[in-house]
Amino acid sequence: MDRTEGAPRVSVIGTGYLGATHAAAMAELGFEVVGADPDERKVAAFQAGRIPFHEPGLEELAARQLDSGRLRFTSSTAEAAGLADVHFICVGTPQRLTSHAANLDYVEAAVSELARNLTHDALIVGKSTVPVGTAARLRELVAALAPEGIRAELIWNPEFLREGRAVADTLHPDRIVLGGASSWASALMHELYAAPIAEGAPVVECDLETAELVKVSANAFLATKISFINAIAEVCQAAGADVGVLADAIGHDARIGRQFLNAGLGFGGGCLPKDIRALMHRAGELGATQAVGLMQQVDEINMGQRQKVVELAHEACGGSVLNRRVAVLGAAFKPDTDDVRDSPALNVAAALHLRGAQVTVMDPAAGETGRRTFPTLGFADDLATAVEHADVVLVLTEWPEFAGADPVALGALVRARHVVDARGCLDSAAWRAAGWTVRGLGLAPAPGLREVRVLAPLA
Ligand code: UDX
Repeated sequence: MDRTEGAPRVSVIGTGYLGATHAAAMAELGFEVVGADPDERKVAAFQAGRIPFHEPGLEELAARQLDSGRLRFTSSTAEAAGLADVHFICVGTPQRLTSHAANLDYVEAAVSELARNLTHDALIVGKSTVPVGTAARLRELVAALAPEGIRAELIWNPEFLREGRAVADTLHPDRIVLGGASSWASALMHELYAAPIAEGAPVVECDLETAELVKVSANAFLATKISFINAIAEVCQAAGADVGVLADAIGHDARIGRQFLNAGLGFGGGCLPKDIRALMHRAGELGATQAVGLMQQVDEINMGQRQKVVELAHEACGGSVLNRRVAVLGAAFKPDTDDVRDSPALNVAAALHLRGAQVTVMDPAAGETGRRTFPTLGFADDLATAVEHADVVLVLTEWPEFAGADPVALGALVRARHVVDARGCLDSAAWRAAGWTVRGLGLAPAPGLREVRVLAPLA
């Protein structure tokens, strides 16, 4: 696809998971794209076709688009401002160190620098996740900083991509939200997203505030679903019921749905935890106290899951982990990524290390990022080395390689056959048959049938 002739040119400011994927995807959709990031080493890596993080399919997509000549990278926002007509703001909004609020310094800096350097009319499209009210303030910044005579409009178009599936989520979004767009901006966005719209992606046009809140609420709802099932898992455990079977059964109700009902170690990553806290903070500022209380509870349940797994590890080791060998399978906050931001797995590993355990972590993709974040933990490159002489094995990220591991072969390597399945991903019957004790969150002592289908009515 090549739309470069007369088509709007695109810049993407910020090249993390969101920006890098968005830049490559817009080039794939046929537009000329420049990705801008102040980090020169990152820019050089991208320009050479190297993606500095693990995101399935992105390297191939970027390589194809670099070859096509439609995609390139720069460390100069001024250059991007001069080249493009539509500018996507994709910089991070991490949690502030001293409060639950989102740190908006990067967004404000990116928008200010862009506005100051505009050379012709431009549409600025915010994609970063921001507290409600931010975009309206950014509009004032743009109006104050854009050179005279230049028309610069700012709209909000939140992004819903998941790490590990970023490429498909960006090329085939399940909805497109446009906040605060004039008819000019709306027409431009329809041109840019013509391909996904033609595929059937619904477009929701609304005001700036609603668009900002759509994103935050989507993540808050997903987080609530996970904490809900984890609260029910506690009831299951106490009552001797099986939360996995229960989730399957309630998930058949189309109003509920099965996704995000996997009980276990809970949510982490660069989005869900900080987004619910930013919502708590902003809702508090606005005096919307019910949302504050709800999110507080969701956060508490989620963090409590980590403590429960630490306790299960103690129990498996007979009450103390001091000088015990603990194999931790998983460092990433979920499979298919090397992202360890707010990783529940590494939190648990670090807590056990603090209590005197000898912890060895293994992750198929996040060994390097994990080591950088927690250099005091031990890391192994393969499963066999990780579990050697272990007193307990903890499965903390549900990589297929862990879920499919052979309990008989692993059983021959460990010192004691105790496993904690904190993601409910093991075939516990097979592990028990191989002589392991299996502990989990919300696991029935003797797992029931997962599903019984009535194929034909009884005579
Ligand atoms: C999330 C949103 O899904 C995405 O739409 C948004 O744009 C960014 O934030 P992501 O952070 O990539 O995406 O991860 P996600 O797949 O949502 O998983 C978040 C966490 O929830 C992971 O730690 C995962 O292990 C956990 N999780 C997910 C559960 O504990 N149980 C589940 O049933 C599902």
